[in-house]
Amino acid sequence: MAENWTPDSWRSKPIVQVPAYPDQEALADVERRLASYPPLVFAGEARKLKASLAEVAEGRGFLLQGGDCAESFAEHHADHIRDFFRAFLQMSVALTYGAQQPVVKVGRIAGQFAKPRSSDIEKKGDVELPSYRGDIVNDIAFTPESRIPDPKRQLMAYRQSAATLNLLRAFAQGGFANLEHVHQWMLDFVKDSPQSNRYKELADSITSALSFMRACGVEADSTPQLRSTDFFTSHEALLLGYEEALTRIDSTTGEWYATSGHMLWIGDRTRQADHAHLEFFRGVQNPIGLKCGPSLSPDGLLELIDILNPNNEAGRLTLITRFGYDKVEEHLPALIRAVEREGRKVVWSCDPMHGNTITANGYKTRPFERVLGEVESFFAVHRAEGTHAGGVHVEMTGRNVTECTGGAKEVSPEDLGDRYHTHCDPRLNADQALELAFTIAENLRKEAESRKG
Ligand code: PEP
Ligand code: CO
Repeated sequence: MAENWTPDSWRSKPIVQVPAYPDQEALADVERRLASYPPLVFAGEARKLKASLAEVAEGRGFLLQGGDCAESFAEHHADHIRDFFRAFLQMSVALTYGAQQPVVKVGRIAGQFAKPRSSDIEKKGDVELPSYRGDIVNDIAFTPESRIPDPKRQLMAYRQSAATLNLLRAFAQGGFANLEHVHQWMLDFVKDSPQSNRYKELADSITSALSFMRACGVEADSTPQLRSTDFFTSHEALLLGYEEALTRIDSTTGEWYATSGHMLWIGDRTRQADHAHLEFFRGVQNPIGLKCGPSLSPDGLLELIDILNPNNEAGRLTLITRFGYDKVEEHLPALIRAVEREGRKVVWSCDPMHGNTITANGYKTRPFERVLGEVESFFAVHRAEGTHAGGVHVEMTGRNVTECTGGAKEVSPEDLGDRYHTHCDPRLNADQALELAFTIAENLRKEAESRKG
């Protein structure tokens, strides 16, 4: 167990990105209530995820992490969750085939509500209001009342997370994730894609593999692995009062676990070594992620690794790098070399979203070719360093939104206004997400071939 740590020891440290709740007593009351509610996930599940990530850290698997930038109360529909899960499963099948390795599936979902902001203030014309910080804190509408942080929103976020998780567990185990269905959806995507020639070979190879297995008697009806899947949840644990209330002692090991989600990550804006977020994270035993942006130096990274993973446990720490498509070569090699030199066990994952945000036609967007560019560069650097490109972390939806420009079914800057629904950052739509997965699968195939030698 971490020394001198308690679930509330973060409270004595400096902290950034905290909402200004006007009524501290109401906030404390909500936190007390949350502390009496059932956990959302079970510590044993978090340990299982950690064990799978340990395999990834050793080069024997790939992490797919994705979902909304920010979940919202308004978009809480079964169809939305289903469409996300369908796109996510298709991505994972392409990646599994490309990597010839297990894909660890982690959603940014069932708890991804709190948002860090670059500015405390949002300005429209002459009006200045406090920034929107995610539905768990305040409301996105641009009015003074909406932007006042309301602690009761934490109770709504908790209940929405429970309902979302419940449906996801049903989808993952109840037949929706059947590999044969997922493959059929993928074939439909390939048929309709302007780039179908490029994807056909991989899709046809999977068809052959499934036919061969069927001929051998390995079918979904008789093989649980083909009709269900493991699926885990994750979010940025930004709102530490909420996280503390859901941090519990696991009765089987006597250790502390955050039970708001299986995996939690630290954002790029809250990773100061002596601050509250590092303090909270060092004491919970879940697998955790750390966002690594351009301002993180190799020594700074090693210092954070010492705090977060002092026992060098494989699977505990995933480094999620997010530099920008044109900055990967400049920053990533030095971080990899420092980690390798010190023998630290980590999963390297690529977030090709957060370093590639621009404004076009008045909308925050991300050009799809830059997203692809960051991923390609991430793989190239790992190939050159001889390390394992272990995962990808994306903002995506299963719906046909127009938030990121580009892709085979070209979204132009003029199209952005058509279906721009995100509550925070622009997401890949289902087609763009799958295109990205095929590109990654091609890279993984190169890696798999070089492994075979
Ligand atoms: C995010 O993942 O939504 C996010 C805010 O990322 P970062 O901390 O890397 O900017
Ligand atoms: Co985001």
